Amino acid sequence: MIPKTVDHALVCALTTICAMILGTFMLRAENRPTGAKESGPIKLPPPRTEGKMSLEETLAKRRSVREYKPDPLTLADVAQLLWSAQGVTAPGGRRTAPSAGATYPLEVYLVAGNVTGLAPGIYRYRPGEHDLIRVAEGDRRARLADASLGQEWVEQAPITIAFAAVYERTSRRYGARAERYVHFEVGHAVENAHLQAVALGLGAVVIGAFSDAEVKRVLGLPQAEEPLCLLPVGKPAR
Ligand SMILES: Cc1cc2nc3c(=O)[nH]c(=O)nc-3n(C[C@H](O)[C@H](O)[C@H](O)COP(=O)(O)O)c2cc1C
Repeated sequence: MIPKTVDHALVCALTTICAMILGTFMLRAENRPTGAKESGPIKLPPPRTEGKMSLEETLAKRRSVREYKPDPLTLADVAQLLWSAQGVTAPGGRRTAPSAGATYPLEVYLVAGNVTGLAPGIYRYRPGEHDLIRVAEGDRRARLADASLGQEWVEQAPITIAFAAVYERTSRRYGARAERYVHFEVGHAVENAHLQAVALGLGAVVIGAFSDAEVKRVLGLPQAEEPLCLLPVGKPAR
């Protein structure tokens, strides 16, 4: 026979645990776009660490590209681009881009519209697993272009890579200086992906002009994440 006080304590503990689980779930889901359906993980093709174009040639060829062919991108190219931005390259989780104190404030999203073998939607890239978690279904490119002050290349590109940051991960250690560190870091990651696009024969353009609130809504970012940069990528039209 369990004494009544123990019984009561057990019920209280269980109720608290249930409330915490439900609360965490609701916090994560609260800002997701309507129709959001988390699913996955979708394993990505492994990244390659050798390519046909030298770094010097890639640097010389890099230009902002704003016109794309209507062709789809392959999942292998998409995987390579995501890896170049934030992929894990060493045991312990070290990545392709440097990070102040290895605090890793960045989150990388794929806005997929036209990728062979991948349904249109928004996906979160998980560097450690090199996979994707779908956070929203459907083609969101037109809404993202609207949120980017009507820049039509955001709608036309088969994909956009979206970079967001949780400042708190870095400010916990570096205080006010973290803001500059996070901005350095997103620049490193975006440039990695921009150069990777060139090396794959693709074109990209850095997008900084957008409504923060609208992009946050379209991507369905959690409260603590702020959108910092968009990178539409596609096959250059010319
Ligand atoms: C921080 C930043 C924000 C930018 N924002 C935009 C943008 O919103 N839209 C756009 O079309 N290009 C944008 N660009 C691209 C620049 O216009 C482009 O890099 C510049 O014209 C030089 O051309 P190049 O990249 O071909 O050398 C941005 C570039 C940077 C570095």
